[in-house]
Amino acid sequence: MKFFLSVQSKFILISSLCIFIFAGLFGYLIIQREKKLYTEDAIHQAKTIAEISGVIFTNALVYKEVGLVENVGMTDYLDYYVSDMMLKDKRIIYLLILDPDGKVLSHSNIREYGKVYTDPVTKKALKATLITVQRLKNTNGSDMVDVAAPLRISTKNWGVCRVGFSLEDVNKGVKALRNEMFIMTSLVLLGSLIVIGITGKAFATPLVNLAKAMDQITEKGNLDIHYPESTRRKDEIGRLQISFSWMIKRLREANREQKNTMELMCQTEKMATVGSLAAGVAHEINNPLGGVVLCFKNFTESDMDEASRKMHIEVINSGLLKIQTTVQGLLDFSRKTPIAITPSSINSILDTSLKLADSFLSKKNITVVRKPCAVMPLVSVDPAKIEQVFLNIIINAVHAMGDQGTLFFEMTNENDMCHVSITDTGPGIDPQVLQRIFDPFFTTKDPGKGTGLGLAVCRSIVAQHGGRIKAESTKRRGANFIISLPLMES
Ligand SMILES: Nc1ncnc2c1ncn2[C@@H]1O[C@H](COP(=O)(O)OP(=O)(O)OP(=O)(O)O)[C@@H](O)[C@H]1O
Ligand SMILES: [Mg+2]
Repeated sequence: MKFFLSVQSKFILISSLCIFIFAGLFGYLIIQREKKLYTEDAIHQAKTIAEISGVIFTNALVYKEVGLVENVGMTDYLDYYVSDMMLKDKRIIYLLILDPDGKVLSHSNIREYGKVYTDPVTKKALKATLITVQRLKNTNGSDMVDVAAPLRISTKNWGVCRVGFSLEDVNKGVKALRNEMFIMTSLVLLGSLIVIGITGKAFATPLVNLAKAMDQITEKGNLDIHYPESTRRKDEIGRLQISFSWMIKRLREANREQKNTMELMCQTEKMATVGSLAAGVAHEINNPLGGVVLCFKNFTESDMDEASRKMHIEVINSGLLKIQTTVQGLLDFSRKTPIAITPSSINSILDTSLKLADSFLSKKNITVVRKPCAVMPLVSVDPAKIEQVFLNIIINAVHAMGDQGTLFFEMTNENDMCHVSITDTGPGIDPQVLQRIFDPFFTTKDPGKGTGLGLAVCRSIVAQHGGRIKAESTKRRGANFIISLPLMES
């Protein structure tokens, strides 16, 4: 079976996809906005630390310059301040003071003392007259900012105070937010899926039932499906349900009418066939009847010994039996019977048809040639109906051939079908006539001689059995009818 997505699945899939995309996008934008805010806040804090430290360091350097503190005291003070700051705020990676030439006056890392920095970050910081912020990567690869506050009063420059401030907390905050957003989005998605699933089912169920009912009708031709005639829904789906149940009702009626018409056509055609056979049947009855009448006359008019009395009774008896069989055959054929499929032998169906037509065929000097078939499995058909099909085609062929001809029968099996080919040696069928021969009431016979229902009924009977019938003809080389019927499933 070809894979396809139901309306309900499509509805759920598309809605979930939309919710997923929108929730994802919304979450992404929120995370980006929060990340920006966190970063700005962290930089602001780093700037505040750098500015305050810058003021404190400038004061200390001014005191030293005016001789209020000694060199050693000032250095101790700066070191104490730096280590105190480092302890107070763990986000500070380093805190240092550089003189205008880039020489380290104080540093959170004692080993950096006395070094002269010439790197681009230092150069940029020393050149600036205002506070600078530079984004860098820490030695462990995490994000950080280098905030430098110049130690200046008017034109007097004592260097720069730099604070290395970690942005790892920002990243941690963003990560926590991302996790929260993920959980929230998943919960929203799950909730939405449940709601969408329930509403989708409510909307799709009537459509699914409608499609199932439609499949039953189109694939199996089953009109006996149970489909509710009324619904409480007032929307388009409800209207569709009501229209559909109305349509099924109409189809059932039409089907019933068509069946009745077909049965009537079948019966009419049977009676016409009986009419065609009448002459042959009369002959079939007349012969034994003649014998019976003669024997009866002898029997009543002359005295006879026991042996010839017995012989006369025998002749009368067998003649009457023959007449009874012929009449019974005709009665069986003309009886109105509903279709009853049984595993049947196509050979014996053909035998019965030929037996019914026997007198008719011999009267017209028609030879029957049957090509033997090696293996002929059973077919699933109603034998009485298929008999009627064969008989119609045989009678048509006899009518076409006139007083002489040969009728060929051949049977083959192919693609789970049994094909019966019936060919005559008549004049064949003109192409214009050929395309109309299966139309009901189409006949080329004189008015009153044919109903034109024979082949239409044949086609309908064969179609009822899930088979096909086709006709081919080459001018002056006779007509060929092929009836294909389904073989019984083994
Ligand atoms: N074997 C055949 N050879 C030539 N023409 C044929 C043959 N079988 C059918 N036809 C043509 O098809 C037409 C339709 O056949 P169909 O059996 O439906 O009706 P019909 O024979 O004319 O009437 P009815 O069957 O009531 O006697 C025939 O009138 C005839 O022209
Ligand atoms: Mg006919």
